[in-house]
Amino acid sequence: MLPSKLHALFCLCSCLAPVHPIDWQDLNPVAHIRSSAWANKIQALMAVASVGQSKIPRGNGSYSVGCTDLMFDYTEKGTFLRLYYPSQEDDHHSDTLWIPNKEYFFGLSKYLGTHWLMGKILSLFFGSMTTPADWNSPLRTGEKYPLIVFSHGLGAFRTIYSAICIDLASYGFIVAAVEHRDGSASATYYFKDQSAAEIGNKSWLYLQSLKSEEEEMPLRNEQVQKRAKECSQALDLILDIDRGRPVKNVLDLEFDLEQLKDSIDRNKIAVIGHSFGGATVIQTLSEDQRFRCGIALDAWMLPLDDEIYSRIPQPLFFINSERFQYPSNIEKMEKCYSPGKERKMITIRTAERF
Ligand SMILES: *[C@@H]1O[C@H](CO)[C@@H](O)[C@H](O)[C@H]1NC(C)=O
Ligand SMILES: *[C@@H]1O[C@H](CO)[C@@H](O)[C@H](O)[C@H]1NC(C)=O
Repeated sequence: MLPSKLHALFCLCSCLAPVHPIDWQDLNPVAHIRSSAWANKIQALMAVASVGQSKIPRGNGSYSVGCTDLMFDYTEKGTFLRLYYPSQEDDHHSDTLWIPNKEYFFGLSKYLGTHWLMGKILSLFFGSMTTPADWNSPLRTGEKYPLIVFSHGLGAFRTIYSAICIDLASYGFIVAAVEHRDGSASATYYFKDQSAAEIGNKSWLYLQSLKSEEEEMPLRNEQVQKRAKECSQALDLILDIDRGRPVKNVLDLEFDLEQLKDSIDRNKIAVIGHSFGGATVIQTLSEDQRFRCGIALDAWMLPLDDEIYSRIPQPLFFINSERFQYPSNIEKMEKCYSPGKERKMITIRTAERF
């Protein structure tokens, strides 16, 4: 079973829910989106759009939050992530666009199985929406912060979970939200080489759809393995910067990466992810012991090989929402339990506003 596409899309908007509750009642999470009528989709989007005036909330912790993008190196094999961090500035200067390029909206419309015009509509409603993180503001130095690598869900991308990432950063975490290039993001881009980067010639990669007749598991398994590698590679990069290795951000932004030298508490590194990202958490923990624990938000277990369940020594925390879980998925989560291993699972009841 696929994680519902609308689930993913509306989780994007989860950030809005605390400000302006939305009832997702008419969105059947299990139904395949293609089978639902256009009218429903439009109606659902309008519901979201009606909260367009409201804002992604500021983090509840005591730190101000800054953010920047980091891409290293060229080609699709490199790392691309959005970094959220405690910032120096107390007064807020420039908010950051939530969804920074129109291509992400086109990718979302493809993911929803709709006409590209839907991308235009989405972009009209959400294209200028900002998040309360100060773009490129200086890092608050003088402290070492725990690090979280964050993995997005199917059809999402690095900035979608800004509300969660900003909240975490406001409590004193550095959060690296990876954009996956395994074909599971709505859209993502890279630069072919230095000269492409210099003239800003982006190469876009869009969501890879399952071909009719194609079996789901082999593709998803291949993707989850690639995703885990990308999480480890993002960690390599950040730890290199932490050690003081000079790294040139392909995006050539104002944020000086040298500020991040000696900023990471290396004993406190975690991986968190949502849906496909939840599976990525489990795969990553099994492959990379530098991650000391993981949190899987509504993990979608299908992509994982059966052997993996016994290969996770680190503590693992499942946070589920009642509405989007089903027995066969929970049974797989339970396979991760074994004596002596630290596990916890909570399910948020009637979490329609998750
Ligand atoms: C926000 O922080 C305040 C004060 O620390 C606390 O009382 C409140 O429960 C927090 N709210 C949320 C949603 O975490
Ligand atoms: C941009 O990149 C594409 C694909 O790599 C290439 O075909 C195109 O010629 C490039 N455009 C420019 C202006 O260099």
